[in-house]
Amino acid sequence: MRKKVIAGNWKMNMLPNEAIKFIEDFAPLVKDTENEVILCVPYTDLFYALLNVQDTNIKIGAQNMHFEKSGAYTGEVSAQMLKSINVEYVIIGHSERRQYFNETDETVNKKIKAAFENGLKPIVCVGETLEEREAGKTIEIITNQTQKALEGLTNEQVESIIIAYEPIWAIGTGKTATSEDAENSIKAIRDKISQIYGQNVSKRVIIQYGGSVKSSNAKELFEMPDIDGGLVGGASLKPEEFAKIVNFDK
Ligand code: PGA
Repeated sequence: MRKKVIAGNWKMNMLPNEAIKFIEDFAPLVKDTENEVILCVPYTDLFYALLNVQDTNIKIGAQNMHFEKSGAYTGEVSAQMLKSINVEYVIIGHSERRQYFNETDETVNKKIKAAFENGLKPIVCVGETLEEREAGKTIEIITNQTQKALEGLTNEQVESIIIAYEPIWAIGTGKTATSEDAENSIKAIRDKISQIYGQNVSKRVIIQYGGSVKSSNAKELFEMPDIDGGLVGGASLKPEEFAKIVNFDK
């Protein structure tokens, strides 16, 4: 049985004092869940967040990293740097990074490899635009993105990856894919992984849904057979609301 994994993506929000207060309020609300709980926070919050989740069941992730180990890359942070302060997860290839910061399938693939080499667990985002959806290309786009992201990885790496299927038209818009639509897309991603890496691998990969997840739709989405939890943006900024999402099965 795959675990449900629910990750918050704070994006460029929350100052350290707000992050500390959030964790103080949020941790007691999710302490009894069996689901995996992750907060992906801005770089400037990482250290404070890590200190404040000690003795809780909350894990901490970053939202991006560079694929090189070190060197003249002003403003960048490497996988080794994240690992050195005990960060566990890292979001790679979020659509906002693909759209605004020239992230490509190639850089996503390099970053995933660097993350694994340094013992970080990648949360890899794939998803189609509204145009691509309307042209009937959703499955082609997301299975291609998945295949390119995973190229050259070992079976062990693929089965320990987290994929977040996030239709771009659903991110921050209040529009959510229906649970059937999300399930179809996620099932197609799992089938693609099965074709390339075999069923033993594909049945272990965690595949989340993301895009306007809230407490009012989380249960319906996360109870679909292939949807293993969610990557949550806006609704992860409020402790009570995010806790309700984490506790969708209570
Ligand atoms: P949203 O963002 O929940 O605010 O739509 C999700 C994401 O971008 O990961």
